Amino acid sequence: MNVIDLETRFQEKIDSDIRIEPRDWMPDNYRHTLIRQIGQHAHSEIVGMLPEGNWITRAPSLKRKVALLAKVQDEAGHGLYLYSAAETLGGDRDHMFEELHSGKAKYSSIFNYPTLTWADMGAIGWLVDGAAIQNQIPLCRCSYGPYARAMIRVCKEESFHQRQGFEIMTVLCAGTPIQKAMAQDALNRFWWPSLMMFGPPDAESTHTAQSKKWGIKRFTNDELRQRFVDMIAPQADHLGITIPDPDLKWNEETKQYDFGEIDWTEFWQVVKGHGPCNKDRIAARTKAWEEGAWVREAALAYAEKQQIHSTTKSKAV
Ligand code: 3HC
Repeated sequence: MNVIDLETRFQEKIDSDIRIEPRDWMPDNYRHTLIRQIGQHAHSEIVGMLPEGNWITRAPSLKRKVALLAKVQDEAGHGLYLYSAAETLGGDRDHMFEELHSGKAKYSSIFNYPTLTWADMGAIGWLVDGAAIQNQIPLCRCSYGPYARAMIRVCKEESFHQRQGFEIMTVLCAGTPIQKAMAQDALNRFWWPSLMMFGPPDAESTHTAQSKKWGIKRFTNDELRQRFVDMIAPQADHLGITIPDPDLKWNEETKQYDFGEIDWTEFWQVVKGHGPCNKDRIAARTKAWEEGAWVREAALAYAEKQQIHSTTKSKAV
């Protein structure tokens, strides 16, 4: 079968919602864009551990510490699922890490903002994990099998992440005026960067059209962003805090919230490495990678020893 026929048959599978599995034929670009997106998704998970990890030793109670610890550990697990999913496409884990540490690979812009108060732990759970859920639920129906299946497990854990964040915000907003002001400050700082998580406007998105054709994306960046705003606006009202956007208002005609212009200059600045914490995040990840080399070497040595042992044993039988 020539490449044209293979591509036609591949697109027919996508259009009939037949999952693509690792051993199936796929266009090189389908493979490359998945390694790109899944690799960056995995990087986002492990870099995303850093802003919250900063508050594990500062949590206000044992209960909060336990919940935050569990959340940060979950993110590490999400990263591992996703690196493994990228490896089913031929992605090389060491190479992906090299690209992360060199600044070549992207990760979600949101993690380049500092976490200044405990309320930020609430805002991250409520807004950042809320945005991640908005984006990851459709990915459970992604055309590539291993990615879709990884997302099903990830989404179950994300809903715990969002609920514990919203509960932190609820307690703060019902607390003292200072606690409520802390929650409002966290919303002020995390609102716009959370909207940026969905990517550039559709008109500037390089990958959306092709990713939708290939069933990688089920919705566009702007569609998911709108769903997120429509979900969060009433929740902010319920908390009694104000979304920092004077143009936010319910549109009875479209049955959606209209909202203000996002600062895309700030977005691209952060994506290009010039955000408040980009350098710290990459330095922390590089340090962890270097200090963890002995663990990887020990695990490899142990695996090789086991391999030799089982080969010798099978020969003796
Ligand atoms: N941060 C950094 N880079 C971003 C970005 C963001 N928020 N949004 C877009 N970009 C980059 C894209 O990677 C692409 O650059 P590249 O070609 O060098 O990869 C460029 O900007 C153009 O954007 P596109 O919209 O064309 O790119 P995509 O089609 O890949 O869409 C995306 C971007 C919506 C983030 C998509 O990649 C995606 O859905 N990724 C999977 C989900 C994900 O990564 N979420 C990140 C958060 S994970 C998280 O929050 C964990 C939670 O547990 C806390």
